[in-house]
Amino acid sequence: MAILNILKDTDPTLRKTSREVADITPRILTLLDDMKDTMRAANGCGLAAVQVGVLRRIVVIETEESGYIELINPKIVAYSGRQQEAEGCLSVPGRWGITDRPMHVTVKALNRKGEEITLTGKDLLARAFCHELDHLDGVLFTDKAIRMLSRDEIEEG
Ligand code: CO
Repeated sequence: MAILNILKDTDPTLRKTSREVADITPRILTLLDDMKDTMRAANGCGLAAVQVGVLRRIVVIETEESGYIELINPKIVAYSGRQQEAEGCLSVPGRWGITDRPMHVTVKALNRKGEEITLTGKDLLARAFCHELDHLDGVLFTDKAIRMLSRDEIEEG
């Protein structure tokens, strides 16, 4: 287990497209464990492998409602509704913006055993699915934000 360095938004690696995982090797399992530790150490609710410099389609998410989730090769298969809420990113520290996201999102992915899983999230989890999957295609929330929050708005919480 290790805490990995999280790339910041000026790093060009964050703009690259991640590749699918063909085999869930011991190395991939170690990466998942390290991503979990890294996300928790940074108090984040999601982390994509590209953020620790590994261009693989792997995401970890942890919210109070969902608990800890690992997604390998995730795809959005359904979405509905709409929400406009504040979003941040461990690669964009101290900045928050309002994004326009679906309220409900269903993803298909593999778990660490290579089994296909289907998960549906709403509210924060739906945003997290969209946000983390965007990372796999080199997209940051700052690209999509309707507007960024001012310092005063962030301080007011
Ligand atoms: Co992010």
